[in-house]
Parts: sequence; C-alpha cells; structure tokens
Amino acid sequence: MSGPLVMGIESSCDETGVGIVRGRELLANEVASSVELHVRFGGVVPEVASRAHLEAMVPTLQRALDTAGIEPAELDAVAVTAGPGLMGALAVGVAAAKACAYAWDKPLYGLNHLAGHVAVDLLDHGELPTPFLALLVSGGHTSLLLVNDIAGDIVEIGTTIDDAAGEAYDKVARVLGLSYPGGPVIDKAATGDPRAIAFPRGLTARKDQAKHRHNFSFSGLKTAVARWVETAEAEQTPYELGDVAASFQEAVCDVLVTKALDACTTYGVDHLLVGGGVAANSRLRSLLAERAPAAGVTVRIPRPGLCTDNGAMIAALGAAVVTAGQPPSSPDFGATSSLPVSRVRVG
Ligand code: KG4
Ligand code: ZN
Repeated sequence: MSGPLVMGIESSCDETGVGIVRGRELLANEVASSVELHVRFGGVVPEVASRAHLEAMVPTLQRALDTAGIEPAELDAVAVTAGPGLMGALAVGVAAAKACAYAWDKPLYGLNHLAGHVAVDLLDHGELPTPFLALLVSGGHTSLLLVNDIAGDIVEIGTTIDDAAGEAYDKVARVLGLSYPGGPVIDKAATGDPRAIAFPRGLTARKDQAKHRHNFSFSGLKTAVARWVETAEAEQTPYELGDVAASFQEAVCDVLVTKALDACTTYGVDHLLVGGGVAANSRLRSLLAERAPAAGVTVRIPRPGLCTDNGAMIAALGAAVVTAGQPPSSPDFGATSSLPVSRVRVG
C-alpha cells in the first residue's frame, strides 16, 4: 500500500496520542492517557491534562517513530489537532507539532479532531463512500454529519442541544456511584434488563420532528436517571444496578440508532459511519447491526481501540488532506477550542 507518510499528534483532552500512517496503512498508534490523574475529580481537569501532555509528548513521539521504524526525514507531513478541545491541552500538541515541522522541515497541517474521529475508519475499512452519513458520538460532541469529502466538505445536519452522549454516560456513572470515564464502566455494568425502566428518549416525540428531527438531547435522560435512583433510595426500594445501567444505555443507543438511520433515509444515503469514544459501546454496535439492514444501510465502525482519542485518527485525516492536494496550514495558526466540524483544516 502507498500514500503519504504522515505523523498525527492529538492532545485535545486527556490522551496524548501520536500516530503514523502511510496512506491508509497504520504504522504506529501510541497513546499515553492521563485519565488516572482525573478519576478522583470525576472529570478531566484542564490544567492537569495540559501538564500531563507536556510530560508525555516527547516520549510518545519517540515511541511512535520507533514502532513505525521510520526516521523523521522520511515523513511527508506532520498533522496535529488544532481544535476543538481544551485550550491548554491543544496548545501543547500544536507547539510540539510546530517544533517537529520546523526542525524536520515538513509541511504542517492543523486539523479538526471531530473529522479525525470519522477519518480513522479509513485505516480499518478503506476508501470512504461518497457521500455518507457520520454519527459522531464523543465526550464533548454528538452530531450527525453529511460527509461529501472527508478532506473538506462536511455539513452538520444535527447536534445535541444540551449534553453530549459521552457526557451523559459520565454524569450518570457519577449518579450510580461508578468511576470516570463512565462509558466503559456503564457498558460493562449494563448486564440487566434494558426494558426494566422506561427512561425518556429525548427529542423523539412527534412534536419535535419539525425543529429537532436530527438533533439530540440527553440532559433530560440524565436527570430522569438521577430522580429514579433518588426515589428508589428514599423509599428504600432495592434495585439492580444492572437494570438501571442497561435501561439508561438502551435509551441512549435507541435514540442514536433511530436518529442516525432516519437521517440516512432523509438524505438518501446508504452508508453510515460511527465515530468517537461512544462508538466503542457494545450495545450501540449491536443495535446498529440489528436495525441497519432493514433500513438498507451499511454501517462502518472502527475497532473500539480507534474510537477513543488517538493520534492515528489525525494522521489518517492528514493523509487524506495531503492526498486531496490541500495546502498546509499557515505556520502561525493557533489552537481553536471551539473549531466547528465544517473546518476540517485550519488555514
Ligand atoms: O472521543 P473521546 O475519546 O474523547 C472526546 O473527544 O470526547 O470520547 C470520550 C467519551 C467519554 O465520555 C467516555 O465515557 C465515552 O467516550 N466512552 C464510551 C465508551 N468508551 C468511551 N461510552 C459508552 N460506551 C463505551 N464503551
Ligand atoms: Zn474525541
């Protein structure tokens, strides 16, 4: 396989990631997570994350080069997450990428983290169909995207009006006394009956169709779980944690799958790609496999290890952007904490 040799650097949240790809071939994907430092706070502490990136960046870069078995001189480009994410955390990656690009005399691309979550599937399932729909589900974002070209033509057709799906997992985990990050823990704890408790499905009522057909809302669900647990505890009614976790998870996944397949129908698209940390969820994956065939939709989801934040996704997007012939970013670009998903590459 051939294609540009690209190093991708990711530091938008709590994972320091460095990936190296040659076109659509993954050569290295080194991730150093600072998650343990945040567990006792129940969420990512930005200053702690920034410092951890600073400490982990050079060793992670070195490990990626060693694993790929390449010399920096061989690289065609360096790519880095320019946003969205935590400002201080992003700044560490951008500074590191600029230093590498300058020292090695390589073109530098400042890229969009969210587009990276979609592009990473190039490494697992090859060339992308045109167009396709992407369901992006992470800790900070939940969106439906119409992707005409991953290197530069992405239109957001829906998003969350309050909490992101991953955020709902993290907050509900806290309510249930489970640890951070909540997604994998609830995924594992959801061993009970998914129909035990009928939790609300946000923005799926008929009245929401006009304005919010492709939008999401998870904050009502989070509150409903909190109230349900409070009531059960106040009344001293014993309950199975597995039932609450499974019922919450079913509500999230049911909404995500229903809305994603509905959007495919609306836009006449027959391929759905799912990306972001929540795409690692076992129930989301099984529910999509159950329901997509009847809707005539082919589903692509990267392996779970590529769904959560990593550098390979930025390298994969970088290779797509280089292949599309796009110019590098201006050397003075900065990190943009609220970079919109439609801006795949910063100028
Ligand atoms: O994409 P990601 O690694 O970071 C962001 O860009 O936000 O996503 C992290 C989010 C967290 O909220 C985490 O709880 C969630 O993804 N997550 C999961 C699973 N693994 C990670 N949510 C549900 N099920 C999982 N298996
Ligand atoms: Zn992410």
